[in-house]
Amino acid sequence: MGISLKGRDFLTLKDFTPDEIEYMLKLAADLKAKEKNGILTKEALNGKNVVLIFEKTSTRTRCSFEVAAYDLGMNVTYLDPSGSQIGKKESIADTARVLGRMYDGIEYRGYGQEIVEDLAKYADVPVWNGLTNEYHPTQMLADMLTIREQLGRLKGVKLTYMGDARYNMGNSLMVACAKMGMHFTACAPKKYFPDPALIAQCEEYAKESGATLTFEEDVTRGTKGADVIYTDVWVSMGEPESVWEERISDLTPYRVTMDVMKNAGEQAIFLHCLPSYHDHKTIIGKQIGELYGLTEMEVTDEVFEAPCSRVFEEAENRMHTIKAVMAATLGAFEE
Ligand code: CP
Ligand code: NVA
Repeated sequence: MGISLKGRDFLTLKDFTPDEIEYMLKLAADLKAKEKNGILTKEALNGKNVVLIFEKTSTRTRCSFEVAAYDLGMNVTYLDPSGSQIGKKESIADTARVLGRMYDGIEYRGYGQEIVEDLAKYADVPVWNGLTNEYHPTQMLADMLTIREQLGRLKGVKLTYMGDARYNMGNSLMVACAKMGMHFTACAPKKYFPDPALIAQCEEYAKESGATLTFEEDVTRGTKGADVIYTDVWVSMGEPESVWEERISDLTPYRVTMDVMKNAGEQAIFLHCLPSYHDHKTIIGKQIGELYGLTEMEVTDEVFEAPCSRVFEEAENRMHTIKAVMAATLGAFEE
């Protein structure tokens, strides 16, 4: 395709053309095949160093960056939410200029998108967004790879997102679908629809790609015929506990149940970025569940455990796609 992403930051899919996204998906599929066939890639970025900054907790994203970095021959430093001077004693601009001199790439998970944008502005090395309040772009590549593996295509796929569509997952899925020619529906109460300015921007991408964007309050209409039913937790990291009551009241009608899956149709798969509150086997799931008399939240345990659920295939793909992002932006595998 003649595409090079060497030196680029990875902050949101808005910054990438459909061809560039396709390039990263193809690289991820190639790297996944290599790994499955026992082909080592340690020479690709041997001896390079990356730093992973996590101001919020993580299982999948952190582990994916670490395993992917090691598989590519790199060394990793992990900075946990309390383990550095960032933000408390040192500005993002100063941190970026320090870390940019020591490392070949910087991952950041935290709060506002402007923080990761600032890091990228001041660091001379690629910066990768590992989740902000507004966007979760590495999750998007994993989701697109999973959808293609499971359904055989991206273009024309109908994806319905149920829940808080104004936050990182709703925003990012709308951008990804608009870029890749998919049919995106946000199925939620009106106040949870994405920001109108972002919708307008995505409508422009959709004109190019053939995507459509729909905003629907009615669950039966919003999920009918969907190929992918997607949801996320109702309260995200960093949000105050006080919002639980309102979210439960507003979003319980939008829980993914077997009725929702049946209404979508036999072709439909269920995806979730995880972690998920689908039972009482977590501290927060149990606490909130007991407080509000719920046994499950955004998805029923029945759907989560059903054959239509592909959430663990999706989780595995976080690693292969993050490997592709680091490899592409650090210039590995270029002729
Ligand atoms: N989906 C996701 O980002 O998971 P983690 O919070 O565990 O990284
Ligand atoms: N919306 C969730 C996504 C977690 C991967 C959060 O920000 O907590």
